[in-house]
Amino acid sequence: MRVGISLLIRLSLLWLLFLSLLNAQSPPTEISARSLDALLQDYAFRAFFQPKTGISYDGKVPSNLTGIRVSAMRLRSGSLRIRGVHSYKEFQIPIGVVEQPYVERLVLVYHNLGNWSNVIYPLPGFSYLAPVVGLLTYNAVNLSATDLPELDIRASDKPILIKFPDVKSPPYGFSPKCVSFDLHGSLQFDKLLPGNVCSTIKQGHFSIVVESTALSPAPAAAASPTPSATGDGEGKNGKGKTMVWLIVGCLVGGSVLLILFVLLVRRARGWRSGKKIKQMERVADTNEALQMTSVGNTKAPQAVGTRTRPILEDDYVP
Ligand SMILES: *[C@@H]1O[C@H](CO)[C@@H](O)[C@H](O)[C@H]1NC(C)=O
Ligand SMILES: *[C@@H]1O[C@H](CO)[C@@H](O)[C@H](O)[C@H]1NC(C)=O
Ligand SMILES: *[C@@H]1O[C@H](CO)[C@@H](O)[C@H](O)[C@H]1NC(C)=O
Repeated sequence: MRVGISLLIRLSLLWLLFLSLLNAQSPPTEISARSLDALLQDYAFRAFFQPKTGISYDGKVPSNLTGIRVSAMRLRSGSLRIRGVHSYKEFQIPIGVVEQPYVERLVLVYHNLGNWSNVIYPLPGFSYLAPVVGLLTYNAVNLSATDLPELDIRASDKPILIKFPDVKSPPYGFSPKCVSFDLHGSLQFDKLLPGNVCSTIKQGHFSIVVESTALSPAPAAAASPTPSATGDGEGKNGKGKTMVWLIVGCLVGGSVLLILFVLLVRRARGWRSGKKIKQMERVADTNEALQMTSVGNTKAPQAVGTRTRPILEDDYVP
């Protein structure tokens, strides 16, 4: 059994090693939407240096995030509610937007994910016709704070509008849609309004998409009678590779677990029969001749009769 256990430990170590290799090899682009939000909050706030309210300041992102743009604008929350923001990049914020919980000043952080849109918000079966843009709000009380939670903002009167200036034209016959991702990871499709405008009542990330079967090159579609949903870019290939690794990992992990289980069961059995043998030895040592019977494939002592007869309690009268 010693051999089994050490083999087990070695296998587990190998498995851990495999997992850590997997982590080390995954490209730096494996970043979740929420951790990117936190990073960008930090980089957007760093753009502030004695900021004036109502002015947009562009932030600098680290080189490993090239292609993403951020900016930040500080506002009095009263001014947001009473005046709105006529235009902040793609966003038009109407009057009547309030934040929860109430703060005196807030910061609007703007994201433009550019060529990272696909990577951060992969949308199988769809292609982006515009970069994903985001609007998030934070308390402005401490401009050097990091890992800030977002405030919750709601438009009550009219919706917030997002007007996309550069939208790839969709293939003939396909109608693009608005897509929005909220901070809890759920996504929603909406009607695209005239002028490439999407609308929302809360913060999050927004873009315009079209079903990606529509984007497969026309000659290829004409040549092959089976149009298949073609992937849209490197982001997707990367995801596929990760999937393969995940599956391989699960298989290996599963086998290790199975081996572990089998070894454990065998060990438990060995332990139990060892105990039985000890018991039999003890019985033999007391020098009592007990009749042996076979139970399954082990022999066990069997007492023929009881030597001290039990006395019923009712008979016992002191
Ligand atoms: C990019 O680099 C910064 C440090 O410069 C690091 O904090 C961050 O996690 C990196 N992001 C990614 C996506 O690798
Ligand atoms: C986006 O483009 C920049 C160059 O403009 C490049 O450095 C960066 O790696 C690209 N990012 C992704 C995720 O493709
Ligand atoms: C602001 O946040 C930074 C970073 O979390 C912290 O070190 C600092 O003490 C905070 N300042 C105030 C006034 O709370």
